[in-house]
Amino acid sequence: MKSFKLQHFDSLKAESAVEHWQKYLQSQVEAFFPEEYRLLKARGFDSKIKKVLDFGCGAGLFTRALRVMRKDLSVLAVDANEKMLESLWRSLVRYPDRKIMPKHWILGEEAAPQGVKDCQAVVLRYVLQHTKDPKSILINLRKHLKKGTLLFIIEEDDELYKMYPDIAVMRKLLSRFKKWGEKYGTNTTMGPLIPRLLSESGYKVQSCDVLCHTATNLGLKPLLDYYRLSLAILSSTAPDILSPKDAEDMNKDFLKAMKSNEEFFLFYPQIITVGKVS
Ligand SMILES: C[S@@+](CC[C@H](N)C(=O)[O-])C[C@H]1O[C@@H](n2cnc3c(N)ncnc32)[C@H](O)[C@@H]1O
Repeated sequence: MKSFKLQHFDSLKAESAVEHWQKYLQSQVEAFFPEEYRLLKARGFDSKIKKVLDFGCGAGLFTRALRVMRKDLSVLAVDANEKMLESLWRSLVRYPDRKIMPKHWILGEEAAPQGVKDCQAVVLRYVLQHTKDPKSILINLRKHLKKGTLLFIIEEDDELYKMYPDIAVMRKLLSRFKKWGEKYGTNTTMGPLIPRLLSESGYKVQSCDVLCHTATNLGLKPLLDYYRLSLAILSSTAPDILSPKDAEDMNKDFLKAMKSNEEFFLFYPQIITVGKVS
């Protein structure tokens, strides 16, 4: 079934590219998780939820962060990319956690792993933007879930970035990401579409929030590290869009801009939507 074919992640086989993704996802979790979790909790991800499906868990970095906050939570962590899942397995060998169950699953192509129906909630974090047909994913996923199951979807919108002062290198990075998205069918402005997609796919929309992370709250360093890692992703997975030399120059420009602006404000938005299987 072609509509479920993954985009960028489908072709992601090179070890070095997977490594760059993992570092990037790790920095994303380290910087944003505390605020994300606070919002998820306020919107219903509470202690009544004992079993969750982490759909598109990747290397399981968010999964791990969830488990640190919730010792009583079981997580069925599924992903279609074997390399990503392998790295979750490896981390479980190093740091065992019996409440995380990794499973390979390509929704729509393979039968659902055991236990999906028992999950009271599903988390999809930065997954739908990488799929060709997000609505089919939501419709198909719904077939495997019980009525009342909650869906927590975390996405972004590159068009909502703001920075003061406006630095050229950041605009350049966003425009390269846009090109990368066009090449790999990744929709980097997916966030605002989610409520509509949910309601068209048989879910009742419960809430939609824009969570804005700022350099003022997080400190500039985590955000800076995050953007510098994103240069490594672009140059390692799409050197035709960003050559290693370009990435190096932009890295220097980032550092220069930070040094020359004593007060630099940066706003990174996440859009968190909650839906319920109706
Ligand atoms: C950017 S990663 C996000 C990983 C993780 N959720 C996080 O926040 O760190 C996106 C993941 O979604 C997975 N994915 C995309 N479409 C999928 C599908 N239809 N079924 C299972 N996994 C999927 C990819 O293989 C990839 O590992």
